[in-house]
Formats: sequence, C-alpha cells, structure tokens
Amino acid sequence: TDRYAVFGNPIKHSKSPQIHAAFAESTAQDLTYEAICVAENEFAENVERFLSDNGRGLNITIPFKQEAWELAEVLSPRAKLAGAVNTLYRDDQERICGDNTDGIGMVRDIVRNNGGEIAGKRVLILGAGGAVRGVLQPVLEQKPARLVIANRTASKAEELATLAADLGEVTGTGYDTLEGQCFDLIINGTAASLQGEVPPLPEGILAKGGWCYDMMYSAEPTAFCLWAQDNCAEKAIDGLGMLVEQAAQSFLIWRGVEPDSQAVIKQIREALT
Ligand code: ATR
Repeated sequence: TDRYAVFGNPIKHSKSPQIHAAFAESTAQDLTYEAICVAENEFAENVERFLSDNGRGLNITIPFKQEAWELAEVLSPRAKLAGAVNTLYRDDQERICGDNTDGIGMVRDIVRNNGGEIAGKRVLILGAGGAVRGVLQPVLEQKPARLVIANRTASKAEELATLAADLGEVTGTGYDTLEGQCFDLIINGTAASLQGEVPPLPEGILAKGGWCYDMMYSAEPTAFCLWAQDNCAEKAIDGLGMLVEQAAQSFLIWRGVEPDSQAVIKQIREALT
C-alpha cells in the first residue's frame, strides 16, 4: 500500500489524516496517511527514510515548511516564490520535488466554493509572514486590478511586493497609509486573528459589496470575520475551506485524481463545534 504522511512538530491536532482518509475513500484510492511528529533537528533524514520506504508523498507543516523548500531538488514556480513547501514527492527520475498548494487552495475556496472573484478586483492582503508569501503567486495569477500587501512592519510588506513584482501590480505598505483607500476583497494572513485581534484598518476600507477572507479558522467566528460583519462585508469566510482545498491539491499531485472537497469541508466544520 502506498504510504503518505504529514510531518510537523507538534502534529497531534492535525486534521490532515482525517481529510486524506476521506479523499481516499471517496476516490477509491488504496493508501494510508499518518501524522508523524518529527524531531526539530531530524527533518531531512526522516524525509529521505520515509520516501525510501514505500512513502509516496508528504505534507509538511510547522515548523518545517522552509526546510522542505531547501531540501527539494525541484520546486514548482509557485513554491519557489512562496519560499515554503507543503507537499513533497519523488518524480519519475527519483528527484525530491516540492510544491506549495496553500495559495491555490485559498483561491479555489474563494472562487469555486464560494463563487467569489479575484480577477479585476482591488485586493488587500494583511500580513507579510510565511502565510502571506505562500499565497502570492496564485492570487496574482487571478489578475486582480491591484494588490496591496499591508503589514505592521511595513518593510516586510515592501520586501514581499518586490519579490512578486514580476507577476502583477503589487504594492507593500504599513497600515498607516491605508486611509482613504478602498478594496473589494480583504484577505487576513496575520496571526493577529488567533489572539482575537484585528490590524488597525480605517473606516470605509471595504467597498460596498466587498468580501473578507480569513486564512485562519476556528469553531467560533474569528476576530477578522467579526470585523468583516461589523463592516458590512457581503461575505466573511474563514480558512477552513482553504485547509481542505490545499489538501485536495496535494492529493491531486500525488494521485492524479482530484477529490471532491465539499463533503469533507462540511464534515470537518461539524466536528469543530
Ligand atoms: P506566518 O508564517 O503564520 O505568516 P509569521 O511569519 O510569524 O507567521 O508572520 C505573522 C504575521 O502576522 C506578520 O505579518 C505579523 O506582523 P509583523 O511582520 O509586523 O510582525 C502579523 N501579526 C502578528 N500579530 C499581529 C498583531 N497583533 N497585529 C498585527 N499584525 C500581527
């Protein structure tokens, strides 16, 4: 049987085994998928060992996504820009390949699952850490009218904007320059939501009929989704669908079959409460 796993530390709260088990069942694929806690200084050797021992693919989560990026011999373009890898596998030449499905997962959740649009829209992304860097290429591929990255530490947002400059019209800034601007879609990629905080956004920043997307999720509405409701967002969506969609895209890379994510999103949502 083909083996798959997610490597992280800590790993016990990972929902990936449940998600991939559901995908395997619905697509009738014969495979196993485990969550493995890897010691911080033993990542590379564990990857090599797993991939030599019937291991066909790995998901990589905190704190190893950057190390996986360095380890991969071949990187997809979106993983290259992301600076992080969440999916590893060997190609037919036995090279270790790295991809990053977080951004495509988020885009699919916005566009396909929720019927939203990024193309032609004014988009604001909050934050400039690994989570935001990981989604830049797939977001820019949708051809937004403009993309602004705003971060507490403005220099980090400016650096990300420079990295992505070839892919479209993208600007990096601090929160203080947002006054008077207006966006159709605001995406939260800061960790603030987990602490119950929302970055300081000026009134009127969300256009009438605008949407909000929080990359974080929780059983209760996140702080950013509550902010969205207070600011009359037409839709406020949390990142649970992104979690399931990034898994579906990894599954597609490994198995060549794209599982249906809707039923799994529903199943995971119900288990949260
Ligand atoms: P991740 O890999 O999850 O993106 P990270 O690289 O530590 O984690 O980045 C965290 C992001 O959340 C950063 O953009 C951070 O802003 P700074 O770069 O200025 O530190 C942002 N962040 C965290 N807590 C925040 C808060 N309370 N208010 C605003 N932004 C916050």
